[in-house]
Amino acid sequence: MAVSGPEVLIGRGLLKDAILPEREERRRVAVVTDAGADGIARPLVVQFEEAGMVAGLVEIPVGEAAKSLAVAESVFEALNRLGLSRGDTVVAVGGGAVTDLAGFVAATYLRGIEAVYCPTTLLGAVDASIGGKTGVNVGGKNLVGVFAHPSRVVIDIGVLENLPTSLTAQGMAEALKAGLIGDPELVDLLEEDGLGADLEQVVRRAVAVKVQIVAEDFRESGRRAALNYGHTIGHAVEIGAGLSHGEAVAVGMVAAGWISTEQAGFSEQDRVLSIISQLELPVRLSTALDPARVLELVRLDKKRDADGIRMVLLEAIGVPVVRAVDEATVLAGLQAVSPV
Ligand SMILES: NC(=O)c1ccc[n+]([C@@H]2O[C@H](COP(=O)([O-])OP(=O)(O)OC[C@H]3O[C@@H](n4cnc5c(N)ncnc54)[C@H](O)[C@@H]3O)[C@@H](O)[C@H]2O)c1
Ligand SMILES: [Zn+2]
Repeated sequence: MAVSGPEVLIGRGLLKDAILPEREERRRVAVVTDAGADGIARPLVVQFEEAGMVAGLVEIPVGEAAKSLAVAESVFEALNRLGLSRGDTVVAVGGGAVTDLAGFVAATYLRGIEAVYCPTTLLGAVDASIGGKTGVNVGGKNLVGVFAHPSRVVIDIGVLENLPTSLTAQGMAEALKAGLIGDPELVDLLEEDGLGADLEQVVRRAVAVKVQIVAEDFRESGRRAALNYGHTIGHAVEIGAGLSHGEAVAVGMVAAGWISTEQAGFSEQDRVLSIISQLELPVRLSTALDPARVLELVRLDKKRDADGIRMVLLEAIGVPVVRAVDEATVLAGLQAVSPV
């Protein structure tokens, strides 16, 4: 089913100007943020007050700790206190954890009110804020949530230019993924300029890949699966080795690239390895993982179905295919990223 997505604004300094879409009935705004982004969120509260609205700041815990039903409930209560009604707006200012949680709250409060996202991490900008998946962790990651788009996504490149290198590298992992599955020129750009690549170009291109794929397959019945490239083994090593998501996806893309070379005729694995290294991301694990544990984690992942383990492979850069693979193949991919 094709669903039209939000308006995505990308530019330097966007948060300094009015960021909300025109809306006659809007009186109140709740700005949801965390400690890592509240320096960016506070001036927005002032901006909304100066525009005549009642605005409140709702601070949630940092990182994955924010994505729980308990935190969602505390934000619902804050919205009650602020007196938000159907015509009002939740503005999420932060990384993917903030937009996932605030998006879930907005999509369910009063059966759905407007959300606007201001992603403040590169990963948030190129991935989490695009595509309409919202949710919280209940037992497993993202197991409870709804598909709902914000009305607008405002990506201020100036904010992204000031990120610590580790957060930039994490976002670059997802940008590289976008390039590998849908934009060979983005891969060229990352190959030429590494972490110094022009962020506006990187964001525009990576967002365009995701927007295009999501428009074709909002509820992930087919083509959207390509966005999971590097995530099957990636998620397993994220949990198993305690890597950050971006690092895990980098390792997962190396493993998937190796399997693609063996099974799908992919011929550019060496190039991908050198790009990942240039982005200061790992190409292998630093400690060995128990293969049985990795298989268990892969089986638990949502990408399983009756045919076995479904993985996204590359026939070429820009040409992803979804294949059912057996456990021996997954283990061979793991071997390719195990410590030497
Ligand atoms: N909805 C989706 O489609 C989707 C896609 C990808 C990832 N995600 C989710 O996104 C989350 C990961 O996103 P993330 O990497 O942005 O993590 P995050 O939101 O946890 O942010 C990472 C850290 O950066 C800090 N931070 C935020 N903005 C900052 C800034 N401008 N300067 C300095 N520090 C800043 C945060 O406080 C946090 O400590 C995960 O929960 C993941 O499940 C969702
Ligand atoms: Zn990811």
